[in-house]
Amino acid sequence: MEGAALTRRGLLVGIGAVGGAGAMYAAMGALGLAPSEQDKAFTPPRPGDFALRGRAAASVVILGAGVAGLTAAYELGKAGYDCTILEARAKAGGRNLTLRGGDRLTELRGPAQEVRFGEGVYFNAGPGRIAPWMVTLDYCRELGVPIETFVNRNAAAYVHTNGQTMRARTAQADMYGYVAELLAKATDLGALDKMITKDDRERLLDFLRRFGDLGPKLEYEGSERRGFTKFPAIGAGSPIPAPGSLHQVLAAGTGHAITNDFGYDQATPMFQPVGGMDAIVTKLVEAVGADRIRTGARVTKITTLADGVEVTYSGGAGGTVKADYCIAALPPHILARIPHNLGAQVTAALRTPVPVPAGKIGLEYGTRWWELEDRIYGGVTETDLDITHIWYPSHGYHSERGLLVGYYNTDANAELYAALTPDDRRRRALTQGKKIHGEKYRQNVLSSASIAWERQEHIEGGWVRWPSVDSSFTLLQRPAGRVYFAGDWLTHLIAWQAGAMESARGVVTELHERVLRSP
Ligand code: ALA
Repeated sequence: MEGAALTRRGLLVGIGAVGGAGAMYAAMGALGLAPSEQDKAFTPPRPGDFALRGRAAASVVILGAGVAGLTAAYELGKAGYDCTILEARAKAGGRNLTLRGGDRLTELRGPAQEVRFGEGVYFNAGPGRIAPWMVTLDYCRELGVPIETFVNRNAAAYVHTNGQTMRARTAQADMYGYVAELLAKATDLGALDKMITKDDRERLLDFLRRFGDLGPKLEYEGSERRGFTKFPAIGAGSPIPAPGSLHQVLAAGTGHAITNDFGYDQATPMFQPVGGMDAIVTKLVEAVGADRIRTGARVTKITTLADGVEVTYSGGAGGTVKADYCIAALPPHILARIPHNLGAQVTAALRTPVPVPAGKIGLEYGTRWWELEDRIYGGVTETDLDITHIWYPSHGYHSERGLLVGYYNTDANAELYAALTPDDRRRRALTQGKKIHGEKYRQNVLSSASIAWERQEHIEGGWVRWPSVDSSFTLLQRPAGRVYFAGDWLTHLIAWQAGAMESARGVVTELHERVLRSP
C-alpha cells in the first residue's frame, strides 16, 4: 500500500522519497543546486514587448502536444511567436486523455481496445482532479473550461484493509477516538507535565475530547460519528455497533487510508472540468491553432546550431523543422532515446528519472448502485488490494448509467494489471471490488476500458520518479544550447498538470527574456 500511495511523498520529484519537497529542496540548497529565483509572478509575453524593440517574435518548435507543450505554445502565441508543435501520437493531449464511446485505445505489447461507453459517459484515463491552488484552474478560467467539484473525500466511501470493509467515517472515528483517548489519558496522568503548562494541559484535553468524541472519563467508547445502520429520522436511528478494542482498531490498519488526502495536493475541495478533463486540451488546441500541431510526427533528431535548431521527424511525409528555439516537452525517457547534439551530460540526465507504471480501469454500469444502494456520491474508497482505489463519479448524479474507476494503481500493482488482457483486467478488478461491494459489483457492467500508462506509445509511464538528489534535475531546467526542456517531471509537481503548466511558463519566460536580450 505504501508504495502505491498517490501522495506528494510518493511522487514529488521522488527525490528523497521520505522527506518530500522541503527535504529535497533543503538538500538541493545544501548542494548549491537550488535555483536562486523561484516562482516569479508570471507575465505572458506580449506583442508590445517586441514593438518597442523593433524586432519580430522568434520561431519555436515544440516537441510534444501534451499539457506542457500546449501551454508553452499558448503562452508564446500571445506575443506572436511562430510555434510549430510536433506530436507523435494521433492526437494532442498526452496523458490528459479522456476516453469516450467510439474511441480506440492502442497499447504497446497488447491488444487495442474499442471503447464502447454509452452516450455522455466518459473516463478520465489520465489526470482526474485539480487542487484549487493549482495554476490548472487559472487556465480553466482563462480558456472558459467550466469546472465542478471533484469529491476526493467522502465519509460514506469505504476503507478496505486487512480483509475488513468499513465506511471511511467509521475508520476515522475509531482511530481518532482511540488516539485521543491515549493522549488524553497520558496528559491526565501528568505524563506531559514537563512539556506543557497546566493551562495548556486543559486546552489540550478540551481539544482531545472534541477530536475523539471522548466520554467524561476520557474514554473512547464509540461515537455517532461512526455512522448508523438506520440514520436518525423521526426516531433516533440505530448507531452501528460499538467499536472493537484499541488493539483491533490498530490491527485493522486503516491509518494510511484515512490520511491519504491530508496532503496539500489532495485536500478537499478538488475540481474537475465539466464533461471530461480533455476540455482543457480542446481549448488549448483551439487557442494555439490546430494547424500548428503536426500529429503523427515522431521526432528522430534534434540539433542545436549557433543560430537556431533543426528537428527532423518521421511519420506522414516526414520532414525537418528549422526554428530559432526548441522546447522539448516529451517525457525524459523518450527524449533520451532521440539522437541529438546536446551532449552526453544531457543524455545521462534525461535517463535519470525512472518512469512509474500507473493504471486505471473505467467500469461502466447500467445503474448507479453506489448512489442508490450505498449512498455514495463521489469520493474514493481506499483499499490495500491491488486495485488500490475505487473512484465514484463526481458528476451525473442520479442519471441512469455511470462509470466508476475500478482501479487506480501504480508500480507493481499497475504492472500486474498491465500484463493481463483487457478482459482479464476487468475480471480481476471486478473480483477485487466485490470484496468491498459484494456481488452487485460484478453485475450490470456494460463496458470497460483500461489503460496501462507504461504501455502507451510515445509516453511509456504514468509519470517519473527521480531516484536521488543530483544535478540532473537542475541541469535540465536550463537550456542546452537553444533547446529548452519542459514538463511536470522538471518541477516539484510531478504527476500534476499544474507541474506541466508551471514548467512551460518558466521556460516561456526564460526563452522570451533571451529573445529580448539577443542582439
Ligand atoms: N496527480 C495524481 C493524482 O491525482 C497523482 O492521483
